[in-house]
Amino acid sequence: MAEQILILDFGSQYTQLIARRVRELNVYCEIHPFNKIPEITSEIKGIILSGSPCSVRDEGAPDLDLDSLRGKLPILGVCYGSQLLALKYGGEVLPSEIREYGRANLSHIDTHYDLMKEMTHGSQVWMSHGDTIKELPKGFEVIASTSSVRVAAFKIEGEDTYGIQFHPEVTHTSEGKNLLRNFVVQICGCAQDWTSDVFIDATIADLKAKIGTDKVVMGLSGGVDSSVAATLIHRAIGENLTCVFVDNGLLRKNEFEEVLDSYKHMGLNVIGVDVKQQFYDALEGLTEPESKRKAIGRVFIEIFDEEAHKIPGVKWLGQGTIYPDVIESVSINGPSATIKSHHNVGGLPDFMKLSVVEPLNTLFKDEVREVGRALEIPETIIGRHPFPGPGLAIRILGDITAEKVKTLQEVDHIFIQGLKDHGLYDEVWQAGAILLPIHSVGVMGDERTYEKVVALRAVGSVDGMTADWIHLPYEFLGKMSNEIINRVKGVNRVVYDISSKPPATIEWE
Ligand code: XMP
Repeated sequence: MAEQILILDFGSQYTQLIARRVRELNVYCEIHPFNKIPEITSEIKGIILSGSPCSVRDEGAPDLDLDSLRGKLPILGVCYGSQLLALKYGGEVLPSEIREYGRANLSHIDTHYDLMKEMTHGSQVWMSHGDTIKELPKGFEVIASTSSVRVAAFKIEGEDTYGIQFHPEVTHTSEGKNLLRNFVVQICGCAQDWTSDVFIDATIADLKAKIGTDKVVMGLSGGVDSSVAATLIHRAIGENLTCVFVDNGLLRKNEFEEVLDSYKHMGLNVIGVDVKQQFYDALEGLTEPESKRKAIGRVFIEIFDEEAHKIPGVKWLGQGTIYPDVIESVSINGPSATIKSHHNVGGLPDFMKLSVVEPLNTLFKDEVREVGRALEIPETIIGRHPFPGPGLAIRILGDITAEKVKTLQEVDHIFIQGLKDHGLYDEVWQAGAILLPIHSVGVMGDERTYEKVVALRAVGSVDGMTADWIHLPYEFLGKMSNEIINRVKGVNRVVYDISSKPPATIEWE
């Protein structure tokens, strides 16, 4: 593994952002909980101590053995991390008189210090802390201040240990990236050579060593993560990887055929399983969203197990797990006690007893896309909107029938194709159509109609956790409404969802 920066997490909402910023500098880094410090190998070039929702003054506040780290390699304490350094070595940390939150400007910067190189006077920084460092311990020197925070940044004399009370990782800190570059490049000496190509070569070599001549099975979804993971495994072990792509009858119009075709073009050994009817049978009469999800999950596992059994001697299960899935469970109390179901082997389908291989489990989503592009995976797969596992089943409110699926597929197809044709697809994070469980009165020609209503939804988001509805042009929406009502039999009304998440969610079920 390449040289890396270790980020010790005290539970701040911004810890993942620190990691992303460091990686944007082409330096590999990993987040570990403060109370589970990995072995400090020579590959670790520096340590960043994150912020925290806790106060260093709280009883039982997160703590670590700083003596074992100090002076051995460069350390940068951010917010809580800096306050911990100050408090532990005899400084004074008190509640801020006014909560220091929001924008501030560096009114004094000592650019002699490597951390402050090329930082400009007046540079905007983002503060977010309820405590503040009032007095520094002996041997600590102030290297930057704002008008209200004297100790905005400090250094410990004679060693590369620094603390900053602002957050360099958020975009509101205008020169935050420069400061992080100063730390990881100037101070830690990282070479900035961690790129997609390096990742690909190292991962393929690792996969070869790990899997050898064993066989791997993997379920594909048509989405970015599973496609990129499968391509990497395929590059490593070739035909020993068998992929399974299931047509659950809840995909978009023509999606099964088109995606299967792309996979075949990419050289993947992929089995397409058309089991629509089994899913429709399992869903018959179910109206409650969670029951629908459970039924779909159950049938998927049955089908996948059946397919995995057809591969003699298969030992591994490939998965497209990405870094946020792995670190989401890191809490300040350490990883949560809940064990992932596939570790709990009793009574599970046979494929779950396979060893798991997850080549993307250190990457963020945008990094997965970059790797996918470097692997020359078609843009139709890389740039695709997220699509939920249960597919159209959670966009048909109420019970599912093959006929309703067909209606929604037509509506969704017109909408998505329209977004593409009007250059709007890439402006939107996720879009789709929802078939509502109501009828409304309309008039077509001289006839009164009593037909279905569909809702269109298009949102902007970064990670799906929060989302805003997109202000699509009225002309475009008008055009979509006309096309849908004219072309899709049984639909006489189109509405546009203008709710944000929270309080609404992206999906309707
Ligand atoms: P919500 O509706 O919770 O959706 O705002 C956030 C993101 O998650 C997707 N989603 C799902 N994905 N299985 C999935 O694989 C599900 O059951 C599921 N429910 C929601 C949703 O499409 C959006 O991207």
